[in-house]
Amino acid sequence: MPTLHWVGKDKVKHHHRDVPYRVLVDDHRYQAPAGSPDNSSANRIIQGDNLEALKSLLPEFEAKVQCIYIDPPYNTGNESWVYNDNVNDPRIKKWLGQVVGKEGEDMSRHDKWLCMMYPRLKLLHRLLAHDGVLLVSIDDNEVQHLRPLMDELFGSKNRIEQFIWKKSYGGGAKERYAVTVHEYVLMYAKNIDAISELSLPPDPSAESRYYKLTDEKLNTRGPFRIKPLEATKSMDRRDNLNYPIEAPDGSMILPKRQWWWAKERVEQAIKNNELYFGRGKSGDWSISYKQYLRDDQGIERQSKPFSIIDGIYTQTGSTVLREIFDSQIFQFPKPPSLISLFLSMLNLPKDAIILDSFAGSGTTAHAVLKLNAQDGGNRRFILIEMMDYANSLTAERARRVMAGYGTGDKAVAGLGGGFVYQQLGAPLFDGEQQLNPAVAVQAVRAYIAWQECIPRDALAAVDNARHPYWLGEANGQQVFFCYEPQRITCLDLELLAELIQSPAPTLFYADQLALGEDFMRTHKLRFKKIPRDISRL
Ligand SMILES: C[S@@+](CC[C@H](N)C(=O)[O-])C[C@H]1O[C@@H](n2cnc3c(N)ncnc32)[C@H](O)[C@@H]1O
Repeated sequence: MPTLHWVGKDKVKHHHRDVPYRVLVDDHRYQAPAGSPDNSSANRIIQGDNLEALKSLLPEFEAKVQCIYIDPPYNTGNESWVYNDNVNDPRIKKWLGQVVGKEGEDMSRHDKWLCMMYPRLKLLHRLLAHDGVLLVSIDDNEVQHLRPLMDELFGSKNRIEQFIWKKSYGGGAKERYAVTVHEYVLMYAKNIDAISELSLPPDPSAESRYYKLTDEKLNTRGPFRIKPLEATKSMDRRDNLNYPIEAPDGSMILPKRQWWWAKERVEQAIKNNELYFGRGKSGDWSISYKQYLRDDQGIERQSKPFSIIDGIYTQTGSTVLREIFDSQIFQFPKPPSLISLFLSMLNLPKDAIILDSFAGSGTTAHAVLKLNAQDGGNRRFILIEMMDYANSLTAERARRVMAGYGTGDKAVAGLGGGFVYQQLGAPLFDGEQQLNPAVAVQAVRAYIAWQECIPRDALAAVDNARHPYWLGEANGQQVFFCYEPQRITCLDLELLAELIQSPAPTLFYADQLALGEDFMRTHKLRFKKIPRDISRL
């Protein structure tokens, strides 16, 4: 398969492994005021560069995120926006200089953009669940690079669709050539075979608008509409679809070209009273079939989304944001309805985790909260935003949507919910590859617990009743983490007796070991040396 090459690719290919693991530090919590409706509260908003933030999420969320929506900078070259759109943010420039080095001096803005995206997509892929789906908004500035890159990272067979989003209805009088009214949303599965079919959510007005007929006598399957059995010209000609059908008066009706259904299907439909014979003024018969709103299990008919999304426009995103903040403080936010449309068509579990690592004004949070409010779901969001407005805009929007906003007849009721606002803390390992004493001991313990597959909720606190070194149990093995930032720990007979009373499969982390190999094996004890045996993410 053809692959994409660009300046700096070989330098960023494995870069995600070198990104330091930083612990996430809680800054504050927000909970909608008492009396607000129930909505998800285990949400997060993280301020920081998403490369490091995504890495920090790995211990808790690797292979757990069902849906990722990202809207990265489109690299338009326009630097006058609130956020830097063309990878010229000083922090990204500094990062590129460090990672790509001298070669970076010859980079075009497209090379830079690809270098920025590559390691982030690698980490996003790791966070995605086996049956997870990633969606990326993009336009013509980078779509021709993004698609082969995604094909390479996800596998082209996992590409579900390159949706065209018709984002505006017109305008563009100043355009010299064609007026661009669309952009794209690339949708990839982690494993195409693991995801369910896409479907549009049921339309609540379908019965009153389309399915207006009912069978008075045979009211078994509820409302229906009628559709002509005569196939349109769009269908290829097939001989077995051209045959006579007997009308109620005994005459034979032939199609002009062919029917939609084969003879056996029509015979079945006649038996089930699913055909509808009409007669025009000239006396000619026409045949229609009944299309029911619900199947025979009572499940409402769902239609597949089209690859072109129409009817949702950029303007709506700006209007919604202006209603929340009373001013235009962010350019081109996505409409929440665009994101909720994609979330709905994926048929995600109602408690799915949804991640947006280029959060901007926080539209994804808004869409998730709204969807939960509509269907009683408990979907959770994780947002990452690098800029200073992560709190004043991204998180503030979530707060207002949760608590309600606007006054008078413009008041919008709160949707409820809460989140924790986090920042990137110190790196877990210092420059000498030793555990960083600046990192809180419980954060280090959480990292070790994750490595030893101890579930988060089974991780013991330092002040647990058993012993400060006790970490937890996993797969029939007890785990002790003998670590003190200011002191070397040594597993000897005295410490062993303090930690366990009778032999059982046990793993000890410590700085040193003073017990022999035979002794350890005989008593089913294992040892891992700090920091050597702590694996790096
Ligand atoms: C196109 S905007 C997203 C808009 C968003 N979908 C909305 O509806 O408001 C891209 C956002 O990604 C942020 N961003 C860019 N690079 C980032 C990085 N490395 N880490 C975290 N955020 C980043 C930008 O600051 C900007 O807010």
